[in-house]
Amino acid sequence: MSTTSKGSGFHIIITSFAATVLLLLLSTFTCEAQLTPNYYDYTCPQALSTIRAAVRTAITKERRMAASLIRLHFHDCFVQGCDASLLLVDAPNIVSEQNALQNFKSARGFEVIDGVKSAVEKVCPGVMSCADILAVVARDSSEYVGGPTWTVKLGRRDSTTANKDLARADLPTAFDDLDALVSSFARQGLSVKDMVALSGAHTIGQAQCVTFRNRIYNETDIDAGFASTRRRRCPSAGGNTNLAPLDLVTPNSFDNNYYKNLLQQKGLLHSDQVLFNGGATDDIVRGYSTNRAAFYADFAAAMVKMGDISPLAGAAGEIRKICGLVN
Ligand code: HEM
Ligand SMILES: *[C@@H]1O[C@H](CO)[C@@H](O)[C@H](O)[C@H]1NC(C)=O
Repeated sequence: MSTTSKGSGFHIIITSFAATVLLLLLSTFTCEAQLTPNYYDYTCPQALSTIRAAVRTAITKERRMAASLIRLHFHDCFVQGCDASLLLVDAPNIVSEQNALQNFKSARGFEVIDGVKSAVEKVCPGVMSCADILAVVARDSSEYVGGPTWTVKLGRRDSTTANKDLARADLPTAFDDLDALVSSFARQGLSVKDMVALSGAHTIGQAQCVTFRNRIYNETDIDAGFASTRRRRCPSAGGNTNLAPLDLVTPNSFDNNYYKNLLQQKGLLHSDQVLFNGGATDDIVRGYSTNRAAFYADFAAAMVKMGDISPLAGAAGEIRKICGLVN
């Protein structure tokens, strides 16, 4: 009796071992990425706590960094997938995406990512990709400033290429109309609702005068008092790099004020206000403005979806040693 049950238990172990091996082989050979939250559980159990601590330190030092770090994951994923291509600097075979219009003198936080990477390398050398680090850092940043949290799927690998032209073509700009925003996100497999929810990241962070000058001087769908306040630090000529908060009410906390601002025509960017302008997305904006929980749930789901854009897996790409350089 006891021999029989031991025997069948042994068989179950052998069978599930064989199944695991088969799954591993399949995922290697089909080259289809199988991201999973447990990816580093055995190879680097300290990875997530190491990242969390480093992100906390960086945001405590400068609150805006939470915004800058969330944006990096977005700008990575929209250009040849979530593969850390954004992090590569100019080199003989690399034309850095950091010099594409939407990133140049605008994307920031690279030194924080480098610091996180060296902390992770110290505990588990050569194990965790920079693309996964960007995904975890974005989640931790949202959580730390009061935003939603979610389970990050892992197992992305890092690219050996970057594509500045694709960055220019695929990243939306502040001057885009609603149609352009919708199709930009659709190209990445993201829905209209995903687009409106992800735009809610503009509840934190800053924008430079050059990105909203035309809006505050020339547009009519803007609150007059708000426009005149913004003109004070954004002259009609000059002062291109002067900053203004994307959410005028609570620029350092993640909340749903972004949508409340849009209802009052106080969106800072043209691409913000087009989401509430008598068009197809008005109802989604109205919904999020009164239902913070719905916004949080949709934002979290959309971040997971965005993190799934064309990851490199299996034998594709590499695990970079330094995020800015191909090995
Ligand atoms: C819908 C299309 C989008 C457009 C056109 C857009 C455009 C911009 C622009 C022009 C800025 C200011 C950059 C500067 O002046 O240097 C900005 C900042 C920012 N964006 Fe977006 N964005 C979009 C979507 C997103 C998404 C999907 C996220 C993240 C999920 C995001 C996160 C941020 C954050 C957090 C900042 C502030 C960064 C900081 O303070 O360093 N944006 N965005
Ligand atoms: C306002 O619009 C006009 C016409 O498109 C343009 O030439 C001008 O530069 C704009 N003004 C600002 C401050 O952006």
